[in-house]
Amino acid sequence: MKNETQGVGESNAKIILLGEHSVVYNQPSIAIPFPAAKVSTVVKETSDQTVISCEFYQGLLEDMPELLESLKETIRVTLKQLNKENHPLDIRIESQIPAERGMGSSAAVSVATTRALFDFFNTVLTQENLLSIVDISEKIAHGNPSGLDALMTSSSSPYYYTKGQPFEALKLNLDAFLVVGDTGKTGQTKEAVTSISKKLTKTDSVNTKKRIDQLGELAKKGRYFLENNEATKLGLTMSNVHQLLSELGVSSPELNQLVETAEKNGAIGAKLTGGGRGGCMIALTHDRIGAEKIAQALTDNGAKTTWVYDMRRGI
Ligand code: MEV
Repeated sequence: MKNETQGVGESNAKIILLGEHSVVYNQPSIAIPFPAAKVSTVVKETSDQTVISCEFYQGLLEDMPELLESLKETIRVTLKQLNKENHPLDIRIESQIPAERGMGSSAAVSVATTRALFDFFNTVLTQENLLSIVDISEKIAHGNPSGLDALMTSSSSPYYYTKGQPFEALKLNLDAFLVVGDTGKTGQTKEAVTSISKKLTKTDSVNTKKRIDQLGELAKKGRYFLENNEATKLGLTMSNVHQLLSELGVSSPELNQLVETAEKNGAIGAKLTGGGRGGCMIALTHDRIGAEKIAQALTDNGAKTTWVYDMRRGI
């Protein structure tokens, strides 16, 4: 039973299988919720001013550093909607999602905190309203978010998502394992998204547009492979996507090294996932033994953390 004096909210990490970056330009994307890493926010009453506690800051809400501006905005917008702007609160956020690694940590923190605040004030939060609040803070974190991170960190189902269109839940039918490897280097989603938008308006616009369209086509094909148990073709698609994302300038030497390591150690395909320029990569393989071999090779070649995900059953 809910403790009446506190509000709680949860969210999870996400992994983009196909369509990062091109999703910003209305191409389709495919992502899965990643419950191995979660965010949990607890909100309680306090007597004086609103205080925040999270991995990067402990103190008054109003003194929060600029780095956490997107979280501050989530709280401000939510309390305004709830008409509780002057209600002193104690907001505690615990995140298992490594920050800035392409796993949706900023959106996940916003999702969990918005949910906890609505829960504390016993107010119903629709998914539509949640996504619109998180979108405001994601604009600060990412510049021009597609909405994919907000959707996936608040969902328990894989989705096929095209910006501005109704999202479609996917029924995965794939006998395969996904290995996730964290380079340990922070990614730079905002810079990566901005660099592609600059390319589109400047010198390389024709090739950039072509690559974005190709990424969209690969996501469409990937959907078929995911739903029809075609792991080998999906793996090949993932490697093609990595090549295109590298050409778009959003990979990094560390990501390329882990992708190559996975391919040399039996992966049927591998790619960066999320914003890139650091962060995580993913590799596909047919069975758990193969996945564990790849995970070990990634660790031996610099991955900070690895996870193995059964595409039929989850973690
Ligand atoms: C970041 O996780 C995914 C990007 O496609 C940006 C976005 O969709 O907003 C790079």
